[in-house]
Amino acid sequence: MLEEKNYQNRRINPQTWKRLLGYARPYRKKYAILLTGSMAAGIIDLIMSFMSMWAIDGFMYRKTTENIGLFAAAAFGLQILTASLTLLFVRSAGQIEAHMTTDIRRAAYLKLQTMSFSFFDNTSVGYLLSRLTNDISRIMEMVSWVCIDLGWSLMAVVASLIAMFAVNFKLALITVTAVPLIALLSVYFQKKILKYQRETRRINSMITSSVNEGIMGAKTSKTLVREELNCLDFTEITEKMYSASMRSAVISAVYMPLASIVISAVTGLLIIKGGRDVLGGLLTVGQLNFFINIGNMMFEPIRNFAGIFAEFQSCQAAAERVSDLLGAVSDIEDRPEVVEKYGDFFNPKKENWEPIKGEVEFENVTLRYKEGEDVLKNFSLKVRAGENIALVGETGGGKSTIVNTVCRFYEPQEGRVLIDGKDVRDRSQLWLQSALGYVLQTPHLFSGSIRENIRYGRLEATDEEVVEAAKLVGAHEFITKLEKGYDTEAGEGGSNMSTGQKQLISFARAILADPKIFVLDEATSSIDTEAELKIQAASEKLLRNRTSFIIAHRLSTIRNADRILVIDGGEIAEQGSHRELMARKGRYYELYMNQFRNERVRESVKILGQ
Ligand SMILES: Nc1ncnc2c1ncn2[C@@H]1O[C@H](COP(=O)(O)OP(=O)(O)OP(=O)(O)O)[C@@H](O)[C@H]1O
Ligand SMILES: [Mg+2]
Repeated sequence: MLEEKNYQNRRINPQTWKRLLGYARPYRKKYAILLTGSMAAGIIDLIMSFMSMWAIDGFMYRKTTENIGLFAAAAFGLQILTASLTLLFVRSAGQIEAHMTTDIRRAAYLKLQTMSFSFFDNTSVGYLLSRLTNDISRIMEMVSWVCIDLGWSLMAVVASLIAMFAVNFKLALITVTAVPLIALLSVYFQKKILKYQRETRRINSMITSSVNEGIMGAKTSKTLVREELNCLDFTEITEKMYSASMRSAVISAVYMPLASIVISAVTGLLIIKGGRDVLGGLLTVGQLNFFINIGNMMFEPIRNFAGIFAEFQSCQAAAERVSDLLGAVSDIEDRPEVVEKYGDFFNPKKENWEPIKGEVEFENVTLRYKEGEDVLKNFSLKVRAGENIALVGETGGGKSTIVNTVCRFYEPQEGRVLIDGKDVRDRSQLWLQSALGYVLQTPHLFSGSIRENIRYGRLEATDEEVVEAAKLVGAHEFITKLEKGYDTEAGEGGSNMSTGQKQLISFARAILADPKIFVLDEATSSIDTEAELKIQAASEKLLRNRTSFIIAHRLSTIRNADRILVIDGGEIAEQGSHRELMARKGRYYELYMNQFRNERVRESVKILGQ
């Protein structure tokens, strides 16, 4: 339930950063170079200030050009050094950012692969997308580039302080009085600026999602005549964006002049006091110039510090969200001893996987998605290996829940699900799922061609086998009618296939894998009558020697099932073969006759209409 958690906490929490900084470990050396380089740059800046002091006192004041060539060469050398250092650390920071972003994204992606169904029930795709893209980019940008600012600022402040006190104690004191003032101003304004920036970003994402919704939901909007309302909503959001951007601009505009006033006031004081000292012979013009320069030079790093602090604070929520995602624990996990024996998702030990026959048993299973609402209660069912089971019943009765439990997409709170007499929790998830073929109620096709999509079932399958599988489920015909046939793009943005057609493709994919247990969760009448007849014709062959669970909404599809279960309120209301149940004239008979009558009516209407 990551989404529901309140991430408003803006206090920097080292615990959160610790997990993220773990990803920096491989780049320790680069970080060390970065830090040293930026500190060196801080020192060079200070040396440059000293150089102008020497130039004024040594050449201008004494009106000589002795050794000026050497001096110029040294100054030039230092500039070259600064340029090279800048190149070095910009490169290192860029590399660190790119590498760490990739590493963390990969870790988060792998984490998502191992999460259970319930995690995705409670966490939206949009939420996860923003974590993987925006949040991670922001954090990584900060942790890599902040290092440069931090090294440079730290060195610049410390070195300047020491140098100032060494050159002239009184003037140093005057300069130092401005430090807390500038620091306070900076912290206050940087926080405000970031707050408004965050606000604009938030509104910006609202605009994006509103545009997205406007496009995706265009058809629905039109049918509901919602266009005007949508436009009003959109205008409201853009107005909010305008005022947030304005506020952010105004705050920035106030901060800079205020900081300049403080700096100028201090410079003025320095000139009054220092000028007197110069006239009195207590101070050289070069030294005074040094103070004026260094005063300016010190304020930049202080502002930087404030910026870094505010940035850290504003990244805290993003860091927490990403850190929580990386640390998320799936509520369906293989026990250590199971992983030890059968391997995990990424390192399966297939040599230890005994063949699965396909016997399925529910033993007093109680399952609930939410506390207090049992969907299955004390549910028991025994299915022989190779038996074809059909599940029928009213919507929301628990049919999908039953088959999802066989697949261990959800785990029961009480009771056990046994496959070949062994608790599903004693097998690794990968092992169980490799023995299963599942056509989901909402089929998903991956980006790639239809051919590739079917081949996902068994990667080493030949093109002929792919076509064979498609023919078997009756998908071949409609695929060949598409312009590019099997090479048609199938995923998002691909061809416009109906849910029924997508199901047929997933069906072919599932069959290609030759699973021992097969599940077909039919989308409510999404398969057209023609496709349905094809599946019906093929299914006898398809389902032979496989344990199967077919959830059908058209009862004519499942007449041949070995056993039909009428599911109602998470219980088996009735069971038996089609013939037995028809003879009993109970629930199934009623459902069947109803559907039969409805179809008849529909047909007559069609005939009348012609
Ligand atoms: N992921 C979930 N989280 C919370 N509740 C759920 C979830 N899935 C199903 N339910 C609830 O469990 C009950 C059974 O749902 P299930 O999907 O198993 O029914 P079904 O028989 O497959 O219905 P349909 O014929 O519409 O597919 C319903 O009340 C449903 O609201
Ligand atoms: Mg269902």
